[in-house]
Amino acid sequence: MTNESRLALLAERLPEWYGRNHRELPWRNEPSPYRVWISEIMLQQTRIEAVKGYFDRFVSALPDVRSLAESEEDAVLKLWEGLGYYSRARNLRKAAAVCVERHGGDLPGNYDELLALPGIGPYTAGAIASLAFGIRVPAVDGNVLRVVTRILADPTDIREGRFVKRITAALGRVMPQDPGAFNEGLMELGELVCIPKGRPSCGECPACGFCLAHEKGTETAFPVKSAPKPRRTEKKTVLVISSGSRFAIRRRPESGLLAGLYELPVLEGHQDRKQIAGLIRQYTEKYECRELPPARHIFSHVEWDMIGYRITAPEPWGEGWFYEDADRILRELSLPTAFRAYAEELKKGMRKRQIEGAVDTDEENVADCQS
Ligand code: ADE
Repeated sequence: MTNESRLALLAERLPEWYGRNHRELPWRNEPSPYRVWISEIMLQQTRIEAVKGYFDRFVSALPDVRSLAESEEDAVLKLWEGLGYYSRARNLRKAAAVCVERHGGDLPGNYDELLALPGIGPYTAGAIASLAFGIRVPAVDGNVLRVVTRILADPTDIREGRFVKRITAALGRVMPQDPGAFNEGLMELGELVCIPKGRPSCGECPACGFCLAHEKGTETAFPVKSAPKPRRTEKKTVLVISSGSRFAIRRRPESGLLAGLYELPVLEGHQDRKQIAGLIRQYTEKYECRELPPARHIFSHVEWDMIGYRITAPEPWGEGWFYEDADRILRELSLPTAFRAYAEELKKGMRKRQIEGAVDTDEENVADCQS
């Protein structure tokens, strides 16, 4: 049997399998281009279970392209807080503005124009085109690569430059009448049956009878993927500085890691107490400083190995930093997950204030805050 005939059989069987076996997911209820777009961007590098809540919150707050285009960047980043890879959120907003300017406030209904939008690559353009517009183009993500390399027992390293293009072209040649059910069926098969870790459930797979890896018992040998470059570790010192209930914070630059998000003061390297004292004394002699526990945060290419200090000192602090109330920082500004461990100090600051404020006003609130 040729590779092409294996894929042609898959295209014949998979839409029906998908019809019978797919999960109910929020964006599948009403697969408008906007909802498919938002869900596909969120699903890049993020698990379905984690995306569900974010998706509902996002489309309730910003239900269409126009509301997204007119939103404040901070509001979009806040809706994205905790999902990571924040350039996705910034690009959504930029792409929405392009849709308003050039496409009458809708997503364009063709692959090339979708591909031209910020943040939309070949996979996402293919997913929106096929799932929302019924256009017969493939959408090849990691799940699809796993399913296809197993069916074909293809030993090519999937990191190899032209491999995704080759698989995309091969799937394009067998694309059935319902491209949405085929593409989403491939993803669903990869997530439910032909799973990445552990043994796949080949007995439940519509490709079981013509999967070459299954025939040879080598399913878990595919896909072949060379080791990624090791992540580099950067040492950082995070300062949680407050004056009353206000904490020092600033917005990061518009480009680079965590662009446009807010951050607590971070110094390069691990600074000892003496170095920190020297730094604070440039501003004030009236301060308190204690060490906070270390924390780590893993980004895609880099890992932060952090130590921290809790400092109380009068404002102002350094250049470019401003002080903001803990509750506004936590409720309205997007502080990336990298700072989660140290943001606990802001929560304590906020709770302390609420409890103090509640003593003579609202007893019930005190219990809520303490629990
Ligand atoms: N992963 C990415 N997009 C998906 C979708 N539409 N359905 C299932 N898994 C996905």
